[in-house]
Amino acid sequence: MSSAWLQRFRRIDLIDIDPHASWLFRLNHGRALRASGSHLGFFQTDGLKALDRLLKESPEATIFFDNVLGQHLYRVRDMARAESELQQIASRLKGRDWGSVHDLYSGPADSNRAVVQPVSLYHAINDAQGLAVNGLRDTPMHRLLLSQVGGHDEWMDHLTSGVFPTGTPSQLIAWPFLPDYAHWLQAGWVAGLGSSSG
Ligand SMILES: C[S@@+](CC[C@H](N)C(=O)[O-])C[C@H]1O[C@@H](n2cnc3c(N)ncnc32)[C@H](O)[C@@H]1O
Repeated sequence: MSSAWLQRFRRIDLIDIDPHASWLFRLNHGRALRASGSHLGFFQTDGLKALDRLLKESPEATIFFDNVLGQHLYRVRDMARAESELQQIASRLKGRDWGSVHDLYSGPADSNRAVVQPVSLYHAINDAQGLAVNGLRDTPMHRLLLSQVGGHDEWMDHLTSGVFPTGTPSQLIAWPFLPDYAHWLQAGWVAGLGSSSG
């Protein structure tokens, strides 16, 4: 997330369950936000549990999930519940400007592979590209993604393939997290009735 993008907002409410998130965020963006006069607030809470209340309290807010939704499975530790809650987010946010960058898949990768270019994708649920399937399967899309980072062995499906509504354009970004472990991230934006996405 860039400070320049954040500077476009008059008020930013940072929501994280981790109390340390606040000072890290201020370390990264505090100076820029002081320069733009943006007000920064921090709420230590579970943003998904509190989502409906937060939306009610801030009816015009734009929502951005910054590398959060890919962790949901680890928090709830129940695949069916995690996937269903992730798929309900879009309808809970209907009409809002919102975006997310999240892990799609991660796993062991060939350390000799060069960093690959992002893949642009027109996302459709259960589409022919094979992204939005239930679990990591042997589809052309999965084969393409894994081959680009030299992926091998078992890969983790973060159950986020159905986060964006059908038809949302998104970008898939390879992230060599460790020399021998890679993530594929998905970044997308859903334009609501507002127009803050840019
Ligand atoms: C991978 S880190 C990303 C941190 C930061 N956004 C970044 O990109 O550098 C995931 C963050 O999401 C927070 N998180 C995960 N689930 C959450 C939830 N349900 N509500 C609020 N925060 C959550 C974690 O505490 C952690 O700070």
